Amino acid sequence: MPAFADPSDQEPCVQWPLPPDCLEAQATAWAPEPGPLRLGVMASGAGSNFEALVQACRQGNLQAEVALLVVNNSGCGAQQRAERLGIPCQLHDHRHHPSREQLDRALVASFQAAAVDLVVMAGWMRVVTPTLIGAFPDRLVNIHPSLLPSFRGLDAVGQALAAGVTLAGCTAHLVSEEVDAGRILVQAAVPVLAGDDHASLTRRIQMQEHRILPLAVALTAQQLGEPD
Ligand code: GRF
Repeated sequence: MPAFADPSDQEPCVQWPLPPDCLEAQATAWAPEPGPLRLGVMASGAGSNFEALVQACRQGNLQAEVALLVVNNSGCGAQQRAERLGIPCQLHDHRHHPSREQLDRALVASFQAAAVDLVVMAGWMRVVTPTLIGAFPDRLVNIHPSLLPSFRGLDAVGQALAAGVTLAGCTAHLVSEEVDAGRILVQAAVPVLAGDDHASLTRRIQMQEHRILPLAVALTAQQLGEPD
């Protein structure tokens, strides 16, 4: 597998598929047709992946626009970023919904009202149900901070550190009913360095998440446009 080093961060990593700017001849092939794609994003926390998606759209690296952010934690970092970036944001607090299905029904209604084509779970810390998955078949993308199928579930970075692996990473994948198990779209691997702690390894992994998530969205859109 070819190694790829981004001069902007100088962090060693391996990513597959390669980012399109490495493949000049193919670069235009990543643009979804017809565009621009309307994205819905779901976030629970800091929202750095949400902002990476917005920036990828605004910088022209992803032919899409973020039409709506949904958060489940009032005042979370993602909501604050949406205000700063001028992206519509709705709060669907899971504490106000008696079941996962009812929360997901509310999410589907919001995304359908916003006419989104594809939904990205960018740090959504809730298990989703067939209600949401079925509403966006093959168009619900998640980002997870491990090289799946290793370290599914909560605290994947802590699991990787506890296991003593020397390579960690992140995976963008389609969402299936089994948690962190849907079809893999893009992965990036990073080294675990001597002296790494949870925070330093998380930072290194997230730098790659911000790179692969827009690519995973583009790939998903491209595959939707392909004949069966
Ligand atoms: C990311 O590490 C993602 O992989 C995981 O939750 C984290 C969200 O970070 N699912 P952020 O809110 O995008 O900064």
